[in-house]
Amino acid sequence: MTESNAANPVTVVTVDGPSGSGKGTLALHLARRLGWHYLDSGALYRILAHAAMAEGLLLGAEAESELAELAGRLRIDFRLPEPESPLGVRVEVDGVDCTDAIRAESVSQGASKIAALPLVRQSVLALQHRFRQPPGLVTDGRDMGTVVFPDAGLKLFLDASAEERAQRRHKQLKDKGSSVSLRALLASIRERDERDRGRAVAPLRPAPDAIVIDSTDMPIDEVFDMVWQLVVDRGLAQS
Ligand code: DC
Repeated sequence: MTESNAANPVTVVTVDGPSGSGKGTLALHLARRLGWHYLDSGALYRILAHAAMAEGLLLGAEAESELAELAGRLRIDFRLPEPESPLGVRVEVDGVDCTDAIRAESVSQGASKIAALPLVRQSVLALQHRFRQPPGLVTDGRDMGTVVFPDAGLKLFLDASAEERAQRRHKQLKDKGSSVSLRALLASIRERDERDRGRAVAPLRPAPDAIVIDSTDMPIDEVFDMVWQLVVDRGLAQS
């Protein structure tokens, strides 16, 4: 498999999968180890949903062109943590920190709704391509390997059962001091899964040449070791 193409020689590694599969943690870890750029494409849909809610826009087809236009207007800045820091990526939009706000449950559902709109996806596509900068890009999302970077050097699809993903989210929230019922989380994950997998444009599915990893019974560091070996085997890094 070629690791780049003539149109854009910068190598991309894509990590797709449903919410809570651990793809974000894996992609960020990989980007840091490689010293490459990192794009959380789900954050772009979240940022847009959050901004649209603040502007009072509807999150459906009625407002499709306004939403697409808004996507082109936002000034988005991702701030990566220092290499050894336990903190995650910070997100600023038009100079305002919205890292925590875009993780609210209402924003998760809103992001999934607007992500089904073709004009919105088109606008976000242009934003995503701008992240492909030397020396390389690691990106996570739903359609990174199928639509956005079909010529990626390595495509991964990280999956886990809905029950396991709900458990992980439940633990994360509990550690942060908030108590949401496991049942409600599972219902929300299933609702989003259905919408993300069932939509007509760029549905969540593995690319035909993606390597599918089921992390249901695998700790994230084991997943990482397995993926790192794949990265080395493709000649993208030295062991
Ligand atoms: O990965 P996430 O949970 O932060 O993504 C939020 C929503 O954005 C998700 O429900 C579907 C949408 N999304 C998408 O449609 N395509 C992507 N590449 C990434 C996210």
